[in-house]
Amino acid sequence: MREAVLVTGCAGFIGSHLCERLLSEGFAVLGVDCFTDYYSPSLKKENLQSLLKHPHFEFWNLDLVSADLKPLIQRVGAVFHQAGQPGVRASWRESFQVYLANNVLATQRLLEACIGAPLHRFVFASSSSVYGDADRYPTSEETLPQPVSPYGATKLAAEHLCRLYWKNFGVPTISLRYFTVYGPRQRPDMAFHKFIRALFQEQTIEIYGDGQQTRDFTYVSDIVEANLLALRSGYVGEVFNIGGGSRISLEEVLNLLEEITGCSSQRVYQPSQKGDVLHTGADITKARRMLGYKPRVSLREGLQAEVEWLRTLELE
Ligand code: UGA
Repeated sequence: MREAVLVTGCAGFIGSHLCERLLSEGFAVLGVDCFTDYYSPSLKKENLQSLLKHPHFEFWNLDLVSADLKPLIQRVGAVFHQAGQPGVRASWRESFQVYLANNVLATQRLLEACIGAPLHRFVFASSSSVYGDADRYPTSEETLPQPVSPYGATKLAAEHLCRLYWKNFGVPTISLRYFTVYGPRQRPDMAFHKFIRALFQEQTIEIYGDGQQTRDFTYVSDIVEANLLALRSGYVGEVFNIGGGSRISLEEVLNLLEEITGCSSQRVYQPSQKGDVLHTGADITKARRMLGYKPRVSLREGLQAEVEWLRTLELE
């Protein structure tokens, strides 16, 4: 008998990869998504295509903010909560209510529905943006989180909710702080996706700031692996950094992308954006020690895979 698991945000970039891996590992997957319009829902429908053909995948189009979630939770042994309103730079002003609803309220409703359910794990997709401009790099989980974007504040609030529901109601939560994830199906608002397309189309590349900001970029299959490790781990109520071990400046990544694609484009420098941190860098000692996590895909390999994916889309 296959173990059933629930994946929220199953049509998203990370969620769709996670579902595919879980199915290949022999799980039955219940996938939930409501196709929010932060980016084109048609891309999300594309992400779902192969999943919908799988006999052990069941899709539910429902909104975590309003749906009755208990009946779904009762059917599964684990939850991977990937759904949320992404994007640090867009989370100011009137948009904040969407972040509040989709990141905080949705998480609280899901956790509430998990009370008393026979779950052995609830994995929450958190974010490096909870740290803000950290005091120290690489940054460990001991560092005081001080988000610099409303988005980061909502992710941190959701992490706290996960811990509260573990402490008070025994919902077996683990939060994974993802560091800038990339690879095939990356969201179209994210840097690599935009840069690769601009290179192919010989359009200018907009760099926010001077290009010297650094990120610890993480390939999507390493993120998926971390979710599987969190599922099987004996540690509950914990928070883990999940980084890629490839901290590099934006300018250097662009040089690498030019080399891989064989294309070059003019770089245009724009003011740095409110909500962006200058640097991220994950200290993954805790994830390595307690989960056995080890990033496996190098930046060059990962970029090649994303370039190939976008090349295919450009040709269609
Ligand atoms: C990413 C995700 O978008 C967030 O949802 C996630 O929570 C976050 O990672 C995380 O690690 O927690 P970000 O690091 O801003 O956020 O990822 P990108 O959008 O790929 O941007 C990377 C860098 O490129 C940033 O410094 C950004 O300012 C810059 N950028 C982005 C540009 O210079 N130009 C662009 O057109 C887009």
